[in-house]
Amino acid sequence: MTDRRPGVVKAVIPAAGLGTRFLPATKATPKEMLPVIDKPAIQYVVEEAVAAGLEDVLMVTGRNKRALEDHFDRNYELEHALGRKGDQQRLSTVRESSDLAAVHYVRQGDPRGLGHAVLAAAAHVGDEPFAVLLGDDLIDPRDPLLARMIEVREALGGSVVALMEVAPEQIHLYGCAAVEATADSDVVRVTGLMEKPAPGEAPSRYAVIGRYVLDPEVFEVLRRTPPGRGDEIQLTDALQELAVRPEVGGPVHGVVFTGRRYDTGDRGDYLRAIVRLACEREDLGPDFRAWLRDWVREEL
Ligand code: G1P
Repeated sequence: MTDRRPGVVKAVIPAAGLGTRFLPATKATPKEMLPVIDKPAIQYVVEEAVAAGLEDVLMVTGRNKRALEDHFDRNYELEHALGRKGDQQRLSTVRESSDLAAVHYVRQGDPRGLGHAVLAAAAHVGDEPFAVLLGDDLIDPRDPLLARMIEVREALGGSVVALMEVAPEQIHLYGCAAVEATADSDVVRVTGLMEKPAPGEAPSRYAVIGRYVLDPEVFEVLRRTPPGRGDEIQLTDALQELAVRPEVGGPVHGVVFTGRRYDTGDRGDYLRAIVRLACEREDLGPDFRAWLRDWVREEL
């Protein structure tokens, strides 16, 4: 019998936030449904999970889950109308999101933080390692991160976080990791984690970005993790316990990401993400870049 660890097949996407930074757009629409060019932000995230081989996706939702469910479901009326017009291209665009993955939903109930959202996935995930993808971070599909994290989990066990070096004045916006080098240049051993450190307290410039591959032992730790920063149950706090007590659920490693990441977390970042992505698009990019160049030259 081979002693193979179970592989990672499930993705968990927390999608229960109130999206208050985008009001009034998010009054009746979940922020995950806001378009980034012509696709809702969450579709990029599901596509990323699928590209890494994770076709079982659990969304942890709150109010307004209806729009999410509808987006990843068939829309027969629309498909029928497009079919009658013979608009095959739009028809396949509409079907793309429903054919992408097996999407499941669970309600978080009272939203008590990211750790609490992840805990809501426990019954669906079971005793297997799983990935968590946060919708505010979009990772460019040309710079695969999740597949590398899964590889590291398969080689080293335990949990794996995604890290990115940020400017010291930015680190207070993130979970921050104390790290030690390993033999692999893009992999570090995480020796400690701190959620949103105050200026001067950050152990490094390594920010945790919104991708995690977690050992199922994290659920046990989350069950006993008290509310932390912001009076919320923090995933970072549970990972801190795993990092300092590897005998509980394996070590924590970090994959250092140097690729393209687009933040859609607040209005300024969201605008920057759209402009950057539009510039990169094959269909829209050439015209848009030319216009942007002229506009910047003439107006700014
Ligand atoms: C969450 C995590 C934080 C992480 C960040 C990445 O914070 O709590 O550790 O660095 O996501 O985007 P949030 O941005 O939801 O406040």
